[in-house]
Amino acid sequence: MRPALKLSPATETTRRDLVREAALAQYELRAATYDLELAVFEPLRYLAIDRLRLRPGETVIDVGCGTGMSLKQLQRDVTAAGRVIGIEQCPAMIDRARARVGSAGQSNLELICAPVEEARIETRADAALFHFTHDILRRPEALDRVLGHLKPGARIVACGLHWAAPWAVPVNLFVWGAALRSTSSLEGLEAPWSLLAERVEELAIDDLMLGAVFLASGTAGASRCSGQPPAEEHPRRERHIPPGPDSPAAGRASAAPSPQRQATLVR
Ligand SMILES: C[S@@+](CC[C@H](N)C(=O)[O-])C[C@H]1O[C@@H](n2cnc3c(N)ncnc32)[C@H](O)[C@@H]1O
Repeated sequence: MRPALKLSPATETTRRDLVREAALAQYELRAATYDLELAVFEPLRYLAIDRLRLRPGETVIDVGCGTGMSLKQLQRDVTAAGRVIGIEQCPAMIDRARARVGSAGQSNLELICAPVEEARIETRADAALFHFTHDILRRPEALDRVLGHLKPGARIVACGLHWAAPWAVPVNLFVWGAALRSTSSLEGLEAPWSLLAERVEELAIDDLMLGAVFLASGTAGASRCSGQPPAEEHPRRERHIPPGPDSPAAGRASAAPSPQRQATLVR
């Protein structure tokens, strides 16, 4: 058998940057039509949010929040006493999220424009939603970032495309077409939740839409909830960092991760 190709760290960094560039370009192009394209999956969104079992006053992270289609429901569920944190790396998508909620909807909302794996999250949340975020679910460092900002016992729900049974050819053609438009790679489509399952206690998986979609839910174990330092180690709350030439907000990504690469909107 041929040995697996091992990339040098520098080559791996370049490869990841190229993947991110491609993902940003994909969603810059898709932003205007995204809501329409997702219409067929909308009932699943409410099922997924329902599974989060949010209570008034809680904090929830909407990971890869896109154009913000989940935000209003999440805001309603946690009420004005709670907090919703949306993280999204594509400026064109998060601009739409901001427009969707409007100025009246900002009081319990924080939108962070950054790759999840670099996002500065300044609190610990009670729940996290990964709704149609295949690329993020396949990035261990992104998962670790989110899980490091969850309270022990926090609820985690992920929902998205996956391959149906091999004999379900028409279903898989649908999955293939939809995945080509929404993911950087088809890698992991047989079990998109697998990296999450390694990190979450008792992840339960349901098949929906003839097997084209999975719904995974579980809780964060104490051991995973200590990754990144929480709020008290980030005392400086940034109002807004203007996008530099290599910031995601400029629609590009550069090699070295740096806090300056995130344009953070704080309520
Ligand atoms: C299919 S959309 C889903 C959007 C939203 N969750 C929804 O349900 O409508 C996937 C989103 O994840 C974002 N995304 C992909 N990789 C990301 C990363 N590493 N960090 C932040 N956002 C990312 C994309 O820009 C895109 O907006």
